[in-house]
Amino acid sequence: MNHTDPSDLSDLFASAKLQDAESEKPLPRCFALVPCAGSGSRAGTPMPKQYQQIAGKSMVMHTLAALQSVDRLENIVVVVSPNDAHVWPESNVQRLQCGGATRAESVFNGLTELLAIGVKDPEGVQATDWILVHDAARCLISEFEINRLIDACIDDEVGGLLALPMPDTLKAAVNGRVSETLPRHDKWLAQTPQMFRAGALHAALQAKALDNFEGITDEASAMEMAGFAPKLVVGSPHNFKVTYPSDFALAEDLLGSRK
Ligand code: CTP
Ligand code: MG
Repeated sequence: MNHTDPSDLSDLFASAKLQDAESEKPLPRCFALVPCAGSGSRAGTPMPKQYQQIAGKSMVMHTLAALQSVDRLENIVVVVSPNDAHVWPESNVQRLQCGGATRAESVFNGLTELLAIGVKDPEGVQATDWILVHDAARCLISEFEINRLIDACIDDEVGGLLALPMPDTLKAAVNGRVSETLPRHDKWLAQTPQMFRAGALHAALQAKALDNFEGITDEASAMEMAGFAPKLVVGSPHNFKVTYPSDFALAEDLLGSRK
């Protein structure tokens, strides 16, 4: 049997590292951008839903805790509304008060600011870096799922999103009655995070800015309109978007059961 001398292995690692440093381009970095500027009109809460308390802290703080547990994220930036009156706890998270009238506009404004900062500061977001856009209202995302998305997309040309293959039979309706049963084998439910190169995503959104971001309901839809085919990465049913009043109790139970 052939035994490898451990010192040979460490030599091998050392030379691989040297090669990395000398011959490879710097790895693109990953940043997170959290749109947090909505009003939560469907949630029925007295304040924007992302600030509603769930299992001991506000919804957005759960979301940020999950993102902060991911080592590969360089920085996390939250986009809030220009008239956001929420008192934030001490937090090392950067906030930009440039939210817009729609989610797409909030993401576009946030990215525009980040890329402008990056022009002056090499530590800031560069066009070739990855940006993971994640809804403040998806407070059940886990470190494991974020890492799965990064692993699946980091070497991809385009990037992609967490999504769920459609589990149920899909019906089309007219006036509250079924008009058609649609094929579901090729249907997915889009979630976040959605991970794209910051420059490519910014350009894709900019192309729709004059159109008031018509038809752009997530980052992937902007990339699709720009001619790209984002990669679908299987997410978890737990990563739902807290939207309606009944969603809060479910989120509270699931977050409580994790402790
Ligand atoms: N969002 C945003 N800017 C907007 C609208 C939404 O940053 N103008 C954010 C929300 O804060 C949320 C995420 O986008 O974290 C997903 O949007 P959604 O769940 O639709 O939240 P709201 O728009 O606040 O809720 P609703 O549609 O019920 O009013
Ligand atoms: Mg909305």
